[in-house]
Amino acid sequence: MKGAYQKAYDESIKNPEQFWSKAAEDIHWIKKPAKVLDDSNKPFYRWFVGGEINTCYNAIDRHIEAGRGDQTAIIYDSPVTNTSKQISYRELLEQVSKCAGAIQELGVKKGDRVIIYMPMIPEAVIAMLACARIGAIHSVVFGGFAPHELAIRIDDAKPHIIISASNGIEGQKIIEYKPLLDKAIELAKHKPQKCIIYQREQVKASLISNRDIDWNEVVPKAKPADCVPVASTDPLYILYTSGTTGMPKGVVRDNGGHAVALRWSMNNIYDINPGEVFWAASDVGWVVGHSYIVYAPLITGATTIVYEGKPVGTPDPGAFWRVISTHKVKSLFTAPTAFRAIKKEDPSGQFLKKYDISCFKRLFLAGERLDPDTYHWASDMLKVPVIDHWWQTETGWAIAANCAGLEELPIKPGSPTKPVPGYQVDILDNDGKPLPANTEGIVAIKLPLPPGTLPTLWQNDEKFKESYTDPFPGYYFTGDGGYKDEDGYLYIMGRVDDVINVAGHRLSTGAMEEVIATHPDVAECAVIGAADDFKGQLPLGFVVLKAGATKDEKTIVADLVKMVRDQIGAVAVFKTAMVVKRLPKTRSGKILRSTMRKIADGQDYSIPSTIDDPAILGEIEEACRSIGYAKKN
Ligand code: COA
Ligand code: AMP
Repeated sequence: MKGAYQKAYDESIKNPEQFWSKAAEDIHWIKKPAKVLDDSNKPFYRWFVGGEINTCYNAIDRHIEAGRGDQTAIIYDSPVTNTSKQISYRELLEQVSKCAGAIQELGVKKGDRVIIYMPMIPEAVIAMLACARIGAIHSVVFGGFAPHELAIRIDDAKPHIIISASNGIEGQKIIEYKPLLDKAIELAKHKPQKCIIYQREQVKASLISNRDIDWNEVVPKAKPADCVPVASTDPLYILYTSGTTGMPKGVVRDNGGHAVALRWSMNNIYDINPGEVFWAASDVGWVVGHSYIVYAPLITGATTIVYEGKPVGTPDPGAFWRVISTHKVKSLFTAPTAFRAIKKEDPSGQFLKKYDISCFKRLFLAGERLDPDTYHWASDMLKVPVIDHWWQTETGWAIAANCAGLEELPIKPGSPTKPVPGYQVDILDNDGKPLPANTEGIVAIKLPLPPGTLPTLWQNDEKFKESYTDPFPGYYFTGDGGYKDEDGYLYIMGRVDDVINVAGHRLSTGAMEEVIATHPDVAECAVIGAADDFKGQLPLGFVVLKAGATKDEKTIVADLVKMVRDQIGAVAVFKTAMVVKRLPKTRSGKILRSTMRKIADGQDYSIPSTIDDPAILGEIEEACRSIGYAKKN
């Protein structure tokens, strides 16, 4: 007999339009869609065409109309400022509609872009929802990115205004945002008309007259704005994510498909119902924050937590257990690296013993591979199901998961379980032929992707095709490698491109190489992601110097570390580089990065038949060993 998961999965593949049109009944439509799936312009698929919707209405207003006005929508828990406060749906409506009114008064209209560069404070969520309310397209930029990265996004999104705050707080450190914002605007060719700055207690940012406006002077006094109807296919947001070059990809999210998919996922994947407390310990700057701090819990009428803190050090490794027990969290979603951080400081779970977390039902992990050690440690400690699930900024929600709300399947450590309804996942060889079970290859998803996934890249259909649908016609190329076992369980083994994952943060080695290559003494370079027990991966640089380099090697490496930190951000954690005589390349000149990665990780590697000079591999191995890499297990 088929279980609930298999039934739903089969239905979603056999009759996708019927499946998603049923899911769409949980969303409020201003105008019902005329067509569920438009596939007339392949490989561009559009969901719920002809429909009109307002995402903010679905996330706030409708819950108040249904009697949830006094329920807490957002809990702001900030150990770094010693604050805990609750915002009800009614209060959220008031604040969001005033913020929407304030940005409308600054001339922001439907379709205009608004960049949001903010720390983890409720105002970040309010700003996002305010944009959604008036049909403006937000683009949130993670606070850990440096001005150069912000400038790239400003030039691509061309925002009418930018919303920021005076500072963020990283553990014990106060990070002043305003100088970073000013620098980014100086670097960017496109200049926003206005900046709204939320002044926090820790830092009073100096405002530039005629451009900068104090949030507290405009938002509380603004005339509340009503919801503006938008087409289901209109963009709700752009979220830039690392690709293989220094130019990030502007992932577009539509309104209709996004609302439907996220609402469906809350019940069926996370088993969260209206009124329950769900906590995604991430940052609004990442896709997890967009989907599971902001939109999915609020569209569901649940309570979400905005946590301004870390898993450790704010103040101790019991921080997560405190939040769970204080706010009666049913499920937590975070990255495995956060659990490795807790395990490192409190391996025997002494801090866990201080809290009653009987309310806690499941832990969901994603963002990087969940190594079996961390899986076992977390399940032994918490004694609840630990659910690994796999997804990407591009998809916006899980591609593979143990769909707890449908039916909990047996867990296999190391696997994010099976494809979620809507996703047909295949393992392909380099020629695009499906591979049999237990054979590692490229992970691809048959088109069309389900609702909520990226319809295209911001103003760049060509790049969308080139990156995702041209590599294997009829498929979406995920960039991940992996395999399926004989039971159909997926195993995601890591990226097959130049994207790396450092502490659950997606970064581009190509972007780091572009920065390093600008050093006057560097002739050429390669950056790879080397395995790291704590952060999953860490970038490792190899540089070849120009003949007659003016500085000594140590100074050059220190320069490179500083350059990457200043231009990409501390979050890149680029701390190690080595000078080598040559880089291993194919005869056509392609740098053999994947072989270098295997060498650095101490794995066995075969000498590629296309290599120009195999002797270079020995030199690379030696260089890696000299700084503690290339250790054989
Ligand atoms: N603003 C400014 N700086 C930031 C930042 C932000 N929002 N986020 C991180 N940084 C800085 C850190 O302060 C650190 O700076 P430092 O070099 O001066 O110490 C640097 O970037 C590296 O940060 P990180 O790699 O995050 O290391 P960490 O030691 O500060 O924290 C973890 C480690 C594991 C606790 C943290 O990375 C974490 O919680 N990761 C989970 C990520 C996540 O939620 N991903 C989303 C998918 S679920
Ligand atoms: P991001 O776009 O930041 O969400 O990063 C997406 C990438 O993170 C994926 O392409 C994977 O490489 C990796 N990733 C996310 N979740 C998992 C997981 N559960 N297991 C393995 N890798 C994952």
